Amino acid sequence: MSNPGKYYLTTPIYYVNARPHIGHAYTTIVADVIARRKRALGFDTWFLTGTDEHGQKIERSARQAGIAPQEFTDRVAAEFKGLWDRMGLSYDDFIRTTEPRHKRAVQKFFALLKDSGYIYKGTYTGQYCVFDELYVDAPPGSPCPDCGRTTETVSEENYFFKLSAFERKLLEFYDANPDFVRPETRRNEVISFVRSGLKDLSVSRTSFKWGIPVPGDEKHVIYVWLDALANYITALGWGSEDPKEQERFKKFWPADLHIIGKEISRFHCVYWPAFLMAAGLPLPKSIVAHGWLLFEESKMSKSRGNIVRAETILEVLGADALRYFLLREIVFGQDGGFSFDALVQRYNSDLANGYGNLASRTLAMVQRYFEGTIPDAAPCEAGLCKETAAYIANFGKECDSLNFSRALETLWSFIGAVDGFLTSRAPWKARTDISDREQQQYRADVLYTAAEALRIITALVYPIIPDAAAKVWAQLGLGDIKQADLKNIEWGGLKPGTRLGELSPVFPRAEKDAITHMQEIEQKNNAPKPEEQPSVAPAPAESKGAEAAAGQVATHAQTNEKISIDDFMKVELRVAQIKVAERVPKADKLLRLEVDLGYEQRQILAGIAEAYEPESLIGRKVVIVANLAPRKLRGLESNGMIVAASLGEKGRPVLAGFLEDVEVGARLK
Ligand code: ME8
Ligand code: MG
Repeated sequence: MSNPGKYYLTTPIYYVNARPHIGHAYTTIVADVIARRKRALGFDTWFLTGTDEHGQKIERSARQAGIAPQEFTDRVAAEFKGLWDRMGLSYDDFIRTTEPRHKRAVQKFFALLKDSGYIYKGTYTGQYCVFDELYVDAPPGSPCPDCGRTTETVSEENYFFKLSAFERKLLEFYDANPDFVRPETRRNEVISFVRSGLKDLSVSRTSFKWGIPVPGDEKHVIYVWLDALANYITALGWGSEDPKEQERFKKFWPADLHIIGKEISRFHCVYWPAFLMAAGLPLPKSIVAHGWLLFEESKMSKSRGNIVRAETILEVLGADALRYFLLREIVFGQDGGFSFDALVQRYNSDLANGYGNLASRTLAMVQRYFEGTIPDAAPCEAGLCKETAAYIANFGKECDSLNFSRALETLWSFIGAVDGFLTSRAPWKARTDISDREQQQYRADVLYTAAEALRIITALVYPIIPDAAAKVWAQLGLGDIKQADLKNIEWGGLKPGTRLGELSPVFPRAEKDAITHMQEIEQKNNAPKPEEQPSVAPAPAESKGAEAAAGQVATHAQTNEKISIDDFMKVELRVAQIKVAERVPKADKLLRLEVDLGYEQRQILAGIAEAYEPESLIGRKVVIVANLAPRKLRGLESNGMIVAASLGEKGRPVLAGFLEDVEVGARLK
């Protein structure tokens, strides 16, 4: 294969409303693995990642953090980029949607769609989910079909994209390109969504400012998803005046692969191709949607607070451990659970005892019996050397179909075979049945075979565990793996006479307390930083007593001790609006409320059921203690408490409120 051509792949650009967690790391690691493998195979590869920095959700997060949106996004974008660098991710470009190169090109893209007659002005009245930045076709007050949060009614003069004009074209396109959306389940979902009919899409907003202005009509900002999706072409240089940029666009577009999480399939598989069709641009070759990383049985996400940071794992086990675990343990495309136990288990069994042990035992014997020089062996006749080609082919096939866990399973059975081979040949045993010279040749044959197998395994596994592979490569005496030609890996590439490098273990066994150590780091890190949503401290055990104190009544202080302003400011009192109120079965006093804080929606249990009918509370603005540690009542989590006066002997609650209209989310101080 002389020149296999170019390969352009992307990750989603992540929202900067909160810091990265291993869900984001997962997608970016998968992209990095593919990029490294393509480069190794000789593809001219371009790997893009970045951050999505506009929209109402970000504007609200910045306001909550009390800083200007640009400063806010600068901070969080730097965290994403810093983490990717620390993990050694080999992206070629990192796009931020607040960069001038992106903004200019998005305005051009918008103008192009408008000039081609696919964008027109109209009025949108309907539901909008701020959390998902999604227009929802449903009656007022309906929950968002994706996240379940209550949608907001918006009524605005908007620009519309004629999505309806693309229904047939999209269906024909999916039909002609069966690999456009993978896996099959996502493809079927996308097709049935389009078949059920496409309505025109509102592509501008006027009720907030944090976005790219519509060219020539600056009171509108461009819909954040149109802005965000365009990153895949603006980062390459579409719309740029610079000839070098234009050339890069020509060379790399269309994308070979967009990698996304399954929840954003509709945006990528329906809206994005429709925008590109309208602009007369070629469509990406393939979009693959993976499943969710679950933690404690639900999707790991910043709003749920059940996140694990990549930093914790880097600190204790290293980046390769996380990479290997995510690719081996999770069947790509499906949801998969993350746990520290499983991580450490995999690390010890597959990395420390598997690959790491094979490397150290093989190299130590070459050191001992051949003074650190790869011995000369008899030509390959049967056994391992003959089976290698099949392992290589199988591994490649599974990688190319993105079946990473199966690819690694194959490679690890190869490792197992080499290990078994060493054990059965026992080159360390002194043999009495043959002469010393014959014994030395016997050892040479066995150890050459093991070392050559190790070289091949290392070349193949390099995209997945690059740090460890680079170390083993150097220990084999082969120099810098980044400079190596990994295109055609075949038996016999290891030259007898090669001098080993300095030996050291690549995967020391995990310490006994690795699991608790990581859990402790997570707990410490979960202390809220200003730009974060309140964290979730471990909920106290459910108890009857807790219900009686069920959060609603803030009685006056019982002691005479005075507190300082600082003490008071520790209590975060905020205005919230009740969106949902219902009785909790078998709990006479409790209501389950969902309240909107503007920047987020949360559930609070309040012991006010004897004083208020649930229906009477919907829409009411109340005061809540927003930074109270969550607790569980009747199996339901309560995230905060509602402030009320407590009247009479029985402490009848009367909710605090305002005479003037107040903005949701406003702080009381
Ligand atoms: O949706 N499991 O950004 P986002 C697996 N800005 N992957 C996960 C994950 C989890 N628990 N959590 C996040 C956006 N991800 C938009 C994208 S693209 C033009 C705009 C990964 O910050 C996964 O790739 O919500 C998911 O699709 C992405 O992060 C969503 O990141
Ligand atoms: Mg998301």
